[in-house]
This record gives sequence, C-alpha cells and structure tokens, in this order.
Amino acid sequence: MKQLALIQSTHHQHHRFGIGMDRKWVLPLALGLAVSILLLLLSLTLTTPLSLLPSFLTRSPVFVESKLHIIPTGTTTPPPLPPRLAYLVSGSVGDADSLKRTLAALYHPHNAYVVHLDLEAPEAERDALRDWVGAHPVFSAVGNVRMITKANLVTYRGPTMVSNTLHAAAVLLREAGYWDWFINLSASDYPLVTQDDLLHTFSYLPRDLNFIDHTSDIGWKEFHRAKPVIIDPGLYMSKKQDVFWIPQRRSVPTAFKLFTGSAWMALSRSFIDYCIWGWDNLPRTVLMYYANFLSSPEGYFHTVICNAKEFQNTTVNHDLHFIAWDNPPKQHPHYLTIKDMSMMVDSNAPFARKFHRDDPVLDKIDMELLFRPPGMLLPGGWCVGKGENGTDPCLVVGNTTVLRPGPGAIRLERLTVSLLSEKNFRPRQCK
Ligand SMILES: *[C@@H]1O[C@H](CO)[C@@H](O)[C@H](O)[C@H]1NC(C)=O
Ligand SMILES: *[C@@H]1O[C@H](CO)[C@@H](O)[C@H](O)[C@H]1NC(C)=O
Ligand SMILES: *[C@@H]1O[C@H](CO)[C@@H](O)[C@H](O)[C@H]1NC(C)=O
Ligand SMILES: *[C@@H]1O[C@H](CO)[C@@H](O)[C@H](O)[C@H]1NC(C)=O
Repeated sequence: MKQLALIQSTHHQHHRFGIGMDRKWVLPLALGLAVSILLLLLSLTLTTPLSLLPSFLTRSPVFVESKLHIIPTGTTTPPPLPPRLAYLVSGSVGDADSLKRTLAALYHPHNAYVVHLDLEAPEAERDALRDWVGAHPVFSAVGNVRMITKANLVTYRGPTMVSNTLHAAAVLLREAGYWDWFINLSASDYPLVTQDDLLHTFSYLPRDLNFIDHTSDIGWKEFHRAKPVIIDPGLYMSKKQDVFWIPQRRSVPTAFKLFTGSAWMALSRSFIDYCIWGWDNLPRTVLMYYANFLSSPEGYFHTVICNAKEFQNTTVNHDLHFIAWDNPPKQHPHYLTIKDMSMMVDSNAPFARKFHRDDPVLDKIDMELLFRPPGMLLPGGWCVGKGENGTDPCLVVGNTTVLRPGPGAIRLERLTVSLLSEKNFRPRQCK
C-alpha cells in the first residue's frame, strides 16, 4: 500500500497547475487507488480458478506482469504509459457548435479524435467546422483531431448509423496510430470526468475489456425489432429519407443469438480489429443481417461480441453513460438539466447524455467537474502555459503522459471496481 501511494505521488509530482482546484484529493486518491487495485487484482485473479482466467490474462502477459510487478517489488517505476482513447464525435445539421464544445471538453493530446458532421448538414456548416479544427492552435499543432471529409448520410435508427461508426473506426485504425479503446459519442453527449481522470483510471485496466451494455432478453424487441424487415434508403440514395418497412416479417435467427443494449460503448482495439478486418465471417454476416434491422446500433456490436467465443469474456455490462429515462420510458431519454446534476455525479459514469445545446448544466459541469474555464480546453497535466492575463494554459503543450487526475478519477474508480466485482463482472457477461 505504501509503495503504491509512493508511486502515485511520484507520478503526480510534475503537476504544478491548480486551475481553481486544490490538492486535498491527492492523498485519498492515492489510498483509494491502492485499495481498489488490490481489489481489482484479487477479483480478476485470485478468486478465479486458473482454468477460468479471463482470456486477457493469458493473451496480454505484458499487462499482467507490469501490474503485478508494481505491488511486490515496490520500485518507483511509474505505471506504464497511459492508454490512448480514440473518439468518434458525430453530429448532424445544426450540431457544429455543440460538437466544438464537446470536443473542447474531451480533448487530450494523448488521444485521437474523429469528427463527423453528416451529409444532412449543409456543406457550409461542415466547411466552417473543418476550418475551425484546422485553425485551432492546439489541434493543429498536435494533429490528433481529424474530420471525416467524405461525410456519410446517416439515418436515425438505420444501419447507416452502424456503417458510419465502422467507417470512423476504420479511419482511426488506419490513421491514428496505436490506441486502446474506441468510444462513440454524439454532439449531445458530455463528459463528467476529465480525460486525465479517465486515462489514469483506465491505465489500471486490462486493455481488452469491452464496455458494452447488453442482454439477450430482447422481450418486446422480438416482435418490434427482430421480426420486421426494414430498408434504409440512406444506403443508396443521396437525400435523407426515413427507413421503410417490408410487409413480410422474418423469423428470429437460429445461426446466432440476438443481443441488444445501449448504442453507447467503449470497445477495445482488438475487438474493433476483429470487426473491421473480418477474418472471421461472423462480424460480416451479422452486419448483413442488421442491414434490415430497426435500430441496428442497439444490437450489432452486442450480437457480434456475445457470439464470438474469443470476446465474450471481455465484456463489461455497462455503457459508461448516465442516461435518464422517464418512467415509463419514452422513445428518447429526457434532456438533462441542473436538476439531474447530483444524480449524474452519483452515477460515477464518465459520460452523460443528452443535453440541449448550451444548457446551463453544461456550465456547471465545466466548473465543478471538469474545472474548465469558459471557452478554454479541458485542463490536464499536459497544459504548461502560465495562463497569464487569462490566456488558456493549454495553449502550451507539455508532456502528454503527465496526468493530473482529480476527484473524477475517484468516482470512475468506484464505478470500475464495482463493474469488475465478482458480483457484477462474470455473472453479467452475455446473459
Ligand atoms: C454511435 O454514435 C451515434 C451518435 O452520433 C449513435 O446514434 C449511434 O447509435 C452510436 N452507436 C453505434 C453502435 O453506432
Ligand atoms: C470464458 O469463460 C468461461 C467461463 O467463465 C469459460 O468456460 C470459457 O472457456 C472462457 N472462454 C475463453 C475463450 O476464454
Ligand atoms: C499581461 O498584461 C500585462 C499588463 O497589461 C502586460 O504587461 C504583460 O506583458 C501581459 N503578459 C502577457 C503574457 O501577455
Ligand atoms: C513525460 O512524463 C513521463 C511521466 O512522468 C516521464 O516518464 C517521461 O520521461 C516524460 N517525457 C519527457 C519527454 O519528458
């Protein structure tokens, strides 16, 4: 424990910048982490019979060894480099301003970002956004934010939503160097923790975990989703139209089992590789099946991952989002406001949705959870500008692997420890 605390504090010794934030959390954070990493290792290894060890423990020995090393030897080696996250942030007509804000609140030079403004948005809006990204002093200097230049037509509830997500994932695989997790967000999503919090906490996780909310209990969706056959004109028309229904209905598949869940997820690089490269035919046949499925983003990845033996055991049944449904649930979750603030914080989730553009609750999140002054980039250990005369300290990019986790890291850690507990992790995989 003492050793870990020591490692934590050496890891943080470079952090000199307190943007409206005091340092009371450093000690509890170090202690909290020491305890929970032990819990995590215990839950992942000791309580599992050797034969049932999760596949990631056998497939990436590097991770395990470096983690296990930290505890017994107590050397002052800092944790390995933080993981890299690859984000898709997408929007449609009128979303450019929300996209800019979400991007500024999500930004970290260590990560990679793809921004997509779909074809429904006018060319001028897309051009303006591209110019903004291109002219941004930090984005252009670091070069880790790219816009999809050949925008896609995306139909709400249609399979073009999934093809757009796969497209962005393919762009990230090809152009963004090495990354560990792919996270799909929209312009109406917003983070509740800083990227330093997220990178710090995720650096203690096996890199091939997939955060995906799922169930095979498809219930009413069998009749309303699995049996109808739809066509998405977005696949072949150049103007947006809604999906249309074919009068015949089809039966529920027997070649694979259907799973459904939230359309929000954080997927490992190895699973994205598997879906994009398609060396196994499953991701491809399931994709073709979902071409005629209503709301395919709520089923495609879920069905693939749970029918793939080599990935089933890497699922964590959660979408990392706080989403508030009305009771009884309507078709859409309700828009979050100041009244939802304490529920959002208590959920320990790193992201929330959905928000109205520039709702006052976003200012509150910026101020109280992200410590982000208006109009500036999300602060982090990499921001080394002096911030003189009210300039953004993040305009000067320092060492991008220096993290300065704050209270958000403690919340996130609570969530991950609970998700990976004996009660929640294995028993909720692909059930
Ligand atoms: C990805 O993000 C979009 C939001 O732009 C969302 O609507 C979609 O359902 C997400 N999920 C998948 C699996 O495509
Ligand atoms: C996944 O876990 C189950 C039991 O938890 C085990 O029987 C199975 O062999 C594991 N699969 C892989 C590919 O490791
Ligand atoms: C900040 O403002 C003061 C007084 O207006 C000026 O003397 C100083 O050069 C400014 N510093 C920077 C970095 O612009
Ligand atoms: C960046 O920070 C990390 C962690 O503190 C350190 O190990 C590394 O040497 C630093 N890199 C540079 C170029 O200073």
